[in-house]
Amino acid sequence: MHWWTLVDECIENNAFPNHFLQLATIKDDNSPAVRTLVYRGRNEEQHILMISDTRSEKYAQLMSNPKAEISWYFYDTREQFRISGETLCVTPKDQDFDVSRLWQDLSPAAKQQYFWPKPGVPITDKTSTYITGKNDTRGKQEKLHQDELDLTDPPSHFCVIKLIPVKVDYLQLSQPKHERQIFEYDIVSSQWHSIALTP
Ligand SMILES: Cc1cc2nc3c(=O)[nH]c(=O)nc-3n(C[C@H](O)[C@H](O)[C@H](O)COP(=O)(O)O)c2cc1C
Repeated sequence: MHWWTLVDECIENNAFPNHFLQLATIKDDNSPAVRTLVYRGRNEEQHILMISDTRSEKYAQLMSNPKAEISWYFYDTREQFRISGETLCVTPKDQDFDVSRLWQDLSPAAKQQYFWPKPGVPITDKTSTYITGKNDTRGKQEKLHQDELDLTDPPSHFCVIKLIPVKVDYLQLSQPKHERQIFEYDIVSSQWHSIALTP
């Protein structure tokens, strides 16, 4: 069975939410960094799609080293996928279909977040209103500003992270015995090969 079939079955058989995954990247000092992201589906090339912000640390890490791994756990069926490969980050200037499609799919509230100040910097008086929604005079002005935003097109720092899988480590904690399989992509034959492993 192809591992995507296993993923599809998991999405179907697990109660919502089943679309949070952890993305691990490598920092410049070679230490790991991991955080939660939303799975945004896959494209025709079978890339795993996520969205983010080019002003974030993960983007800088992926620009230095595009290798990444996601860990995706399905609670109800007790299945884990660890999927590794190289990433490709695309932004509005790339005129990529997935960028426009995923932007259109976002709710207005989710789109507005991309017009917040750069992530990961200290909060100032000017920026606190975005974060706390503080209702002082400046807060009202900023709120007005947010409501007037043109959300038709994504800002230049909106990005789609595409993970191109080359290896999948699948684990199912079924009873009475656990099951583990490794799927690896063979570039020569363009085929996925799998092998069962001790868990
Ligand atoms: C449930 C949940 C979902 C999240 N989804 C995303 C997402 O889809 N994209 C994203 O960039 N950050 C998402 N985040 C925030 C990231 O986990 C992270 O805090 C942020 O992107 C900054 O990470 P960085 O400094 O490593 O770049 C989410 C956080 C949580 C808790």
